[in-house]
Amino acid sequence: MIQLIRGFKDILPDEAGLWQMVEQTAIRLFTDFGFKEIRVPLMEHTELFARSIGEGTDIVEKEMYTFADRKGELLTLRPEATASVARAYIQHKLYAVDPIRKFFTIGPMFRRERPQKGRYRQFYQINAEVYGIDSPLMDAQLIFMLTTLLARLSVPEARAHINSLGCPACRPQFKEALLAFTAEAEDRLCEDCRRRRTQNPLRLLDCKVPTCREAMAGAPALPDFLCDDCRDHFEAVKTGLRDLGVDVVIDKRLVRGLDYYTRTTFEVHAGGLGAQSAVAGGGRYDGLISTLGGPATPAVGFAIGFDRLVEITALSAADHDKRPDIFVAALGEASRAAALKLSSDLSMAGILTEIDFSSKSLKSLMKRADRLQAKFVLMLGESELESGAAMLRNMGTKEQIPVPLENFAARVKEILGEA
Ligand code: HAM
Repeated sequence: MIQLIRGFKDILPDEAGLWQMVEQTAIRLFTDFGFKEIRVPLMEHTELFARSIGEGTDIVEKEMYTFADRKGELLTLRPEATASVARAYIQHKLYAVDPIRKFFTIGPMFRRERPQKGRYRQFYQINAEVYGIDSPLMDAQLIFMLTTLLARLSVPEARAHINSLGCPACRPQFKEALLAFTAEAEDRLCEDCRRRRTQNPLRLLDCKVPTCREAMAGAPALPDFLCDDCRDHFEAVKTGLRDLGVDVVIDKRLVRGLDYYTRTTFEVHAGGLGAQSAVAGGGRYDGLISTLGGPATPAVGFAIGFDRLVEITALSAADHDKRPDIFVAALGEASRAAALKLSSDLSMAGILTEIDFSSKSLKSLMKRADRLQAKFVLMLGESELESGAAMLRNMGTKEQIPVPLENFAARVKEILGEA
């Protein structure tokens, strides 16, 4: 039997109701904050991700699903959405009329990481991105929107960790200090970190290897190197968050696995995720739009790991798995023929109706209605057809009421409304 690809997964119908509810909660909240949906393709030219995320990052170096298509063009299944949204902003000149844009986008991403709990090779993200606003108040509001969503979804122990990564004016001094600090510790660093020293020194700060952690214990911290503008910006983000009542951890060692970030960066960690505790991550990326050939435009955004979110929400999948309002049990050929229209009318009237058109006995139809946890069963046999009224059975109270077939859907709706 052909199985699914390692690190990929199916979202089965029992869970899908919860996924829909999470998605709708996010869409409603983001819409209320002025965000509009943008949908971007699953595949892009490899160069877009290499230039945005950065050549020296784990994602670009080791994790992308890249292949040459039949004409030899290098294409990549998107490992994230930010680069694509930025490309769309530039390509469609979305800045022309109004450079200020707020987008959200939801969908699958692909990274060839080692699969484990909370880490998949196809996973889903809920992204929010803001263009054209450099105010630190926007960063604060964005983090507030994110933590509000997690609270609405009953995510336990969610806590935002924030840091500032500075800007092209102040980061070089920090990198220099970091290189000077690690020059002496080089022989204690893992092989990856020794390579990172020359390619991507910021990543030295979040290596998980214990000897590297030890070696980096007294390393310089980014916030101590910020220029005046970056320091003021960071302070204002913190004040804004305080004003909004968002409790954050200032994490001087927080760096991110993507190169485009400037200034504010953040991650939200939550309980119940084990080693992969980041349920969301994001930050400012004021340089990306111009790097990709667009006009200089400040930007800030985040992505939530949808799979992780569903895994840790205290809401249960069973509560969001919709039960049928009505199970139609039609007995005999003539009744089934009549049930075709009657059941379709019920569905059209917005009543969740289940019918299987089978010639099973009443007993086995009732069994199926029970298994599906139908709220009502509509019984339709020859005698009901003759009398012109079907029997509606409330599966909770066991009460049975005849419902005239004339103007049927409206009558049933009324009864369901009263139940
Ligand atoms: P990221 O930190 O790479 O950021 O991913 C964001 C979130 O996606 C993570 O916190 C995690 O919850 C989830 N995630 C990442 N990889 C996996 C995986 N293999 N399996 C399951 N979940 C995963 C970004 O992608 C940036 N584009 C975020 C951003 C938007 N920054 C600015 N705008």
